[in-house]
Amino acid sequence: MISVKNGVFHLQTARTSYIFDTTPSGKLRHIYYGKRLDDADISTLAVKNTIALGSQVCTQPMECLDDILLEYSEVGRGDYRHTPLECTMPDGSFVTDFVYEYFTVTEEAFSAAGLPMARGDAETLSVRLKDKLFHVELVLHYTVFDSCDVIARCCELVNSEGKPVTIRKLMSFQLDCPDADFVLGTLDGGWAKETHIHERPVTYGIHVTDSTTGGSSNRHNPGFYLRRPGADELQGEVMGFNLIYSGNHYSAVEKANHDFLRVMQGVNPHCFAWEVASGESFVTPQSVMTFSDGGINGMAANFHDFVDNHIVPQPWQGKERPVVVNNWEATMFDFNKSKILSIARRAKELGVELFVLDDGWFGKRNDDTAGLGDWVVNEKKLPGGITALASQINKMGMQFGLWFEPECVNPDSNLYRAHPDWAIHVPGRTPCLGRNQLVLDLTRPEVRDYIVDAVDKVLCSASIQYVKWDYNRHISDMPAGGEFFHRYMLGLYEVLDRLFRQKHPDVLLEGCSSGGNRFDLGMLCYAPQIWTSDDTDAYERLDIQRGVYCFYPPSTVSNHVSMTPNQQTLRSVALSSRFNVAAFGVLGYELDFNELSADERKQIKNQIAFYKQHRRLFQYGRLRRYFPKQDRESWQITLNGVTAAAIYNIHYHASPARDSLKILAAQPEKRYRMASVPQQLKISRFGGLIKHVAPVSLKADGLVLRTVDKHYSMRDGQEEYVCTGENLKAGVQLAMQYSGTGYDPKLRILGDWGRTLSLITEE
Ligand code: GLA
Repeated sequence: MISVKNGVFHLQTARTSYIFDTTPSGKLRHIYYGKRLDDADISTLAVKNTIALGSQVCTQPMECLDDILLEYSEVGRGDYRHTPLECTMPDGSFVTDFVYEYFTVTEEAFSAAGLPMARGDAETLSVRLKDKLFHVELVLHYTVFDSCDVIARCCELVNSEGKPVTIRKLMSFQLDCPDADFVLGTLDGGWAKETHIHERPVTYGIHVTDSTTGGSSNRHNPGFYLRRPGADELQGEVMGFNLIYSGNHYSAVEKANHDFLRVMQGVNPHCFAWEVASGESFVTPQSVMTFSDGGINGMAANFHDFVDNHIVPQPWQGKERPVVVNNWEATMFDFNKSKILSIARRAKELGVELFVLDDGWFGKRNDDTAGLGDWVVNEKKLPGGITALASQINKMGMQFGLWFEPECVNPDSNLYRAHPDWAIHVPGRTPCLGRNQLVLDLTRPEVRDYIVDAVDKVLCSASIQYVKWDYNRHISDMPAGGEFFHRYMLGLYEVLDRLFRQKHPDVLLEGCSSGGNRFDLGMLCYAPQIWTSDDTDAYERLDIQRGVYCFYPPSTVSNHVSMTPNQQTLRSVALSSRFNVAAFGVLGYELDFNELSADERKQIKNQIAFYKQHRRLFQYGRLRRYFPKQDRESWQITLNGVTAAAIYNIHYHASPARDSLKILAAQPEKRYRMASVPQQLKISRFGGLIKHVAPVSLKADGLVLRTVDKHYSMRDGQEEYVCTGENLKAGVQLAMQYSGTGYDPKLRILGDWGRTLSLITEE
């Protein structure tokens, strides 16, 4: 709800309040962001400036902008904190002086042509400020999403002056707070190690989290949070922020004079200069912010509801996603039609619903040095083309999906030979290659048309229900001008809009960029799910998925069970554990089903059947995480009274301490059954111990045991309890872990990186 009374703007969501007013000179003064207040008493809440201080620079007596919490600051009027706005004004100076003009409230979400923005039921407050010298206006837009406690903010610079204004920096929002007693949490990493959470106390100076790669990047995700030092997963005050944008982003957190906190986020000013001609305007991407006093889980819950209801494309909103098999890790480029069909057939037998043909199906694409850009099927590998293959897969009772990387081109391709100038380059310089490829210049309309036509042609030629849209390098060698990076993004959004909103809205689009190199809210406006990481190691995925879940719901997080030893880390993790991590989101398999043993096939069949039975829970349930103790982590997901709770062992220690697991969503007065989801253990895990119990002498890694492993396995960690929610919440003391003395089906033989999963249902 938005109310404006006596000059006080009060934005209320179900559980939060955001309050500001104007100063005597017409600046917007920030007052409060936090737990919902029903009555905004400004005299109590506002920061006081009681007497003048030394070295102040003031717009008028007792109005010194450096000492005021501001809604949006600017340059050259006495606020020396980090600025969200830097423009060259028509007189060539950087000085602006925007003052309040008027506001409007509309009963809809703010939208701007060409930019992905949050949609759905919402109200928008737009506050218009006018420069005192020039006919230039700054409009701050606040869209309030009530039930998920999210406020989306962006701003707009309108130039009605006779001369251009050049924007060097225009953040989507600024938030000032009266104290900086927070811990900043960011998601950082690189290829195959995306979104690891890092925390540090906010301290004097400015901490910048940004991307300069042209995409939102695997270096630093645009999502970040500020938690009170005492807050953790389960409780305490946390503010979360994210940006609906897939390009270069910038977030700054500053602890300034008086210990004031300033937070801002928007398009990265790096190499940015945007000329707003007379009569034109510029709208920033939208940032979103939330507040929760329910800890990191509370913040994440708000963002999960927001993304599921206001970000993902409408046709996919709340829709269950299929279990896929992807051939990449199984075959890479080395496949033919019969290989593909045999994987698909085996996968279908075990319950997989959609087959994804990954890279290598087109042009001369037999490795990553050639073919990118030539979106014409390689009939040598796939006689009959995609049309025949898709139809054969459909006839097996499976949907068909296809990989594309339309934004890039190999120099060794027909496309590049025909249009070398379409690749991003600086005339006179040899462009850098990334994975042997260049990026196409999506700022050019003819390039966008080519991509739309080429992809559309393939999609129209066959029965294709899913597309994996990949993008495997960063941008380099940008041509002249400060508009390139942002125009590239606008070009990409236009292409995605034409292909997947207008022409093929029923195709399920999965975003990918060497894994999670572009996992952001901008892409999610077109692609309802994103390939989280090329790293499919279940242990590594704990760090990656834990970070992603802070800002993105399970329905968007695509996870695959792959072969062991893992191809990225050479680590071996039990099949049950691989599933117990991948199941928390959109499940798939990325392995050669022909190479599975009979026992593994049986296990995978059971996994898929279990996942399908509880698919809604795993994709749309309320996810909560906590650390029961050091080296243990629990992920729990709850929907309609059913919870799936996993406990992860990070490192195993001999004769380990006992584990207790709190079921966070249990309702005290209800009765529940908590039963471990059946999982199996390879007999060879016991190694040399087998010799002591078997009547015959067996070698630990010998042929006999390897053969036995293929057909038999043992039950692992079976336990069951019926009790009240009160007891579940207090903490269930779990069966012991393996302790070196023997085997019992109840023992949890987890070892390093092992996991068990339990299902908790109401009785
Ligand atoms: C990227 C993707 C992988 C796979 C390969 C194909 O690395 O992240 O999943 O599609 O490209 O080349």
